[in-house]
Amino acid sequence: MIYIFIVFYMAEKISSNFEFTNVVCTSLDKKFDDFEYCFLKSVNRTYKYLSLKVNLFKIPITKVKVKGILYKRFSGYRPFMFNVTVDACRFLKDTNSNPIVNYFLNFFRPFSNINHTCPFDHDLIVEKVPIDFVNHQVTKVLPFPEGDYLLETHWIAYDIDRAVVKVYGTIS
Ligand SMILES: *[C@@H]1O[C@H](CO)[C@@H](O)[C@H](O)[C@H]1NC(C)=O
Ligand SMILES: *[C@@H]1O[C@H](CO)[C@@H](O)[C@H](O)[C@H]1NC(C)=O
Ligand SMILES: *[C@@H]1O[C@H](CO)[C@@H](O)[C@H](O)[C@H]1NC(C)=O
Repeated sequence: MIYIFIVFYMAEKISSNFEFTNVVCTSLDKKFDDFEYCFLKSVNRTYKYLSLKVNLFKIPITKVKVKGILYKRFSGYRPFMFNVTVDACRFLKDTNSNPIVNYFLNFFRPFSNINHTCPFDHDLIVEKVPIDFVNHQVTKVLPFPEGDYLLETHWIAYDIDRAVVKVYGTIS
């Protein structure tokens, strides 16, 4: 009985798989920033990606904080594992200074133009983050338990919350 359970458990582990389920981008201050696009696309069964672009209207931006909260769905979405706010300008000077933020930055670092120190004086682009890349991060680099997740990020410039990006995904 236990043996069967273990085999079943291992089979589950091996097949563990990430899917994006939704992405929602909201500008909280349209004089400051707005989203040109923000979407998920399924090219075919295996190639799916996330893209977004935010236009910044008050550049250069020299003071940015990012708040990240991970939620996992139980009966409703509940905070899970972390709820952190980092000074992005300080963090980007030494990305090893915060391993958990660095782990999440790695999700889109290769696909974006934000991997540089402050100031930010251009639109921010995250282009075609492929699902298999995210899958590797959440099942191999740091394995997460199965479930429905929401990563909510707040983009705070000069201590005012300017935008919210919510990325929903499922690990099965
Ligand atoms: C899915 O689309 C990508 C990009 O166009 C392509 O490289 C890949 O071969 C396709 N995969 C399948 C299974 O059709
Ligand atoms: C995140 O942490 C802050 C500060 O500790 C707290 O005020 C806030 O309610 C927390 N958010 C959630 C969703 O738990
Ligand atoms: C960009 O990311 C790489 C890691 O992929 C890091 O080594 C490098 O220091 C970063 N560049 C800047 C300017 O932050």
